[in-house]
Amino acid sequence: MRAVTWQGKRDVRVENVPDPTIQEPTDAIIRITSTGLCGSDLHLYEVLTPFMTPGDILGHEPMGIVEEVGAGVQDLQVGDRVVVPFQIACGNCWMCLTGLPTQCETTQVQGEGMGAALFGYTRLYGSVPGAQAEYLRVPQAQFGPIKVPEGPADDRFVYLSDVLPTAWQAVAYADIPEGGSVAVLGLGPIGDMACRVAQVQGAGSVFGVDLVPARLRRAKARGVETFDLGSFDEEKELVEAIRDRTDGRGPDAVIDTVGTEAHGSAAARMVQNAAALLPRKLGGPIAERFSVDRLAALHTAIELVRRGGTISLSGVYGGMADPIPLLTLFDKQIQMRMGQANVRRWTDEIIPYLTDEDPLGVDDFATHRVPLSEAPHAYEMFQRKQDGAVKILMQP
Ligand SMILES: NC(=O)c1ccc[n+]([C@@H]2O[C@H](COP(=O)([O-])OP(=O)(O)OC[C@H]3O[C@@H](n4cnc5c(N)ncnc54)[C@H](O)[C@@H]3O)[C@@H](O)[C@H]2O)c1
Ligand SMILES: [Zn+2]
Ligand SMILES: [Zn+2]
Repeated sequence: MRAVTWQGKRDVRVENVPDPTIQEPTDAIIRITSTGLCGSDLHLYEVLTPFMTPGDILGHEPMGIVEEVGAGVQDLQVGDRVVVPFQIACGNCWMCLTGLPTQCETTQVQGEGMGAALFGYTRLYGSVPGAQAEYLRVPQAQFGPIKVPEGPADDRFVYLSDVLPTAWQAVAYADIPEGGSVAVLGLGPIGDMACRVAQVQGAGSVFGVDLVPARLRRAKARGVETFDLGSFDEEKELVEAIRDRTDGRGPDAVIDTVGTEAHGSAAARMVQNAAALLPRKLGGPIAERFSVDRLAALHTAIELVRRGGTISLSGVYGGMADPIPLLTLFDKQIQMRMGQANVRRWTDEIIPYLTDEDPLGVDDFATHRVPLSEAPHAYEMFQRKQDGAVKILMQP
């Protein structure tokens, strides 16, 4: 089959690889009809290079048709239309039963000290072949895949794999009081969708911050009050501008959907670049133990949120030695919640919103649909935020 493979820093290629096969009774094979490109893939494209191996198959946002099921999978049939969550979880362990499938005790990558295995996401998360491919082996298929009805185009359901539950969890963790205010940092796919979820759940004011004009326009068109980071000389001015809109206090909650690749600090970028250039054996441990993130967005969140407010982190951070202003966090009495989205914890709540009325605007959420063969161009376009690219779906 054809698959998008990682070959090196900013180097992905579509290659022929062996078709996946059933290896465990709890496996299924799906033929992928749509598969998303995510901000998380961009981390692999560039900064997480030390944890990748050339040839790794990328991708974790698929949907498609069940081709084959193992003997241990009762609820799936050949021909079913399914969306596959980005994390692999058993559905039956203590963590899964607690609503934390990202911490699944059956698939935890214990050798690396990490949580549940993820599709297409480095050796830290189990080096599981990913979903930007024609076919996907789905382990733990007795729990993961979500059956969806025939009829609407893939766009209606495909974001259940990641974007929707991630945005949903971001808003749930933000704990916005009824009619309260939230600022969303970053208006990529996750931030954009988090604004929409906050709106449908009744937030009083939704502020959005980014520095890409097309992304700001897109959020504004849906009633978000947007702030262009690039129009302020300093972070302080942005914080003041949003405080002015919230009785001088700052929003009740701030959702950070930027993560480690924030625009803002040159020093942190140097450390990441240095780690990416080291030989693999050295680069891994060094990046893991000593790396620091680019923290511009997190620091903005800490400054911006009102005293006693909540910060919800969806943007991925991976540093082990990040300087965090604990004095401010403690003094302002800030609550912080974070983590990978627990996909199946939220999907039953989200599905009722995926109707013809389309309150979340999923039907035209994608800005680009490209064949799998154009993956190298799609990665470049998405990373550089060219051509209005916000969400790219690939069709194998
Ligand atoms: N927690 C999860 O389960 C989960 C799931 C999916 C994605 N993610 C993470 O969410 C983040 C966003 O993903 P995405 O797909 O939306 O990707 P993205 O990279 O397109 O979005 C990030 C946005 O942040 C903007 N930005 C950069 N610096 C900023 C700053 N200082 N202030 C405000 N905005 C800034 C960028 O212009 C961009 O629009 C990534 O870190 C990704 O890994 C997490
Ligand atoms: Zn994703
Ligand atoms: Zn489990």
